[in-house]
Amino acid sequence: MPYKPRDHYFKKAKQEKYPARSVYKLQEADRKYRLLKRGQKILDLGAAPGSWSKYALERVGPKGMVVAVDLSPLKITAPNLIFLQEDVFSVEPEKLRELIQGEAFDAVLSDMAPKTTGDRSGDHFRSVNLAQRALSLAEELLKPGGVFFVKVFEGEAFPKFVEEVKKRLGGPIKRFRPKSTRAESREIFVLAHKK
Ligand SMILES: C[S@@+](CC[C@H](N)C(=O)[O-])C[C@H]1O[C@@H](n2cnc3c(N)ncnc32)[C@H](O)[C@@H]1O
Repeated sequence: MPYKPRDHYFKKAKQEKYPARSVYKLQEADRKYRLLKRGQKILDLGAAPGSWSKYALERVGPKGMVVAVDLSPLKITAPNLIFLQEDVFSVEPEKLRELIQGEAFDAVLSDMAPKTTGDRSGDHFRSVNLAQRALSLAEELLKPGGVFFVKVFEGEAFPKFVEEVKKRLGGPIKRFRPKSTRAESREIFVLAHKK
């Protein structure tokens, strides 16, 4: 299928004032699995330009909070949004915890992706590396029952990553491929709840 830069979801995101089409992946997962609730504290990794954070803010409401991390700046602001422009590998878990008064997060979301190079295998391993970092942060910062929802580019290390999620957070695990994912994309989302 040819790449369509201005596809249906791109236009929909523009109309609905989300900074990226990726919002519909989170929305679909949230509608299916009920990931986010009012008043919750959410950690959004790889948050730029900000459509997941914007959606999460709408779902958690004014009493909730979103902490967002990305190398690139966000295109949104909100009173209950804290943004750290940092590399996820250097951000301190303790610093993230302090931002929500020492509490634990209700959900750790990661839509992080490496800059794709066309080298499928290299892109896959870089994506797994990012997902593993998200898993470490989730293990440390999620409350029991908390949601871990992470994007990975599928490839040979994917089954091992899923096993690691099971081992470190506790099963069961769901694999989710949103309708809005482009046909040529190898992205898949893994969903787990911390025991
Ligand atoms: C697909 S985009 C995220 C889109 C976002 N969920 C939204 O809806 O607006 C992937 C993001 O991962 C970020 N990223 C990649 N490597 C990262 C790293 N090491 N630390 C923090 N962010 C990273 C990129 O900068 C990019 O903004």
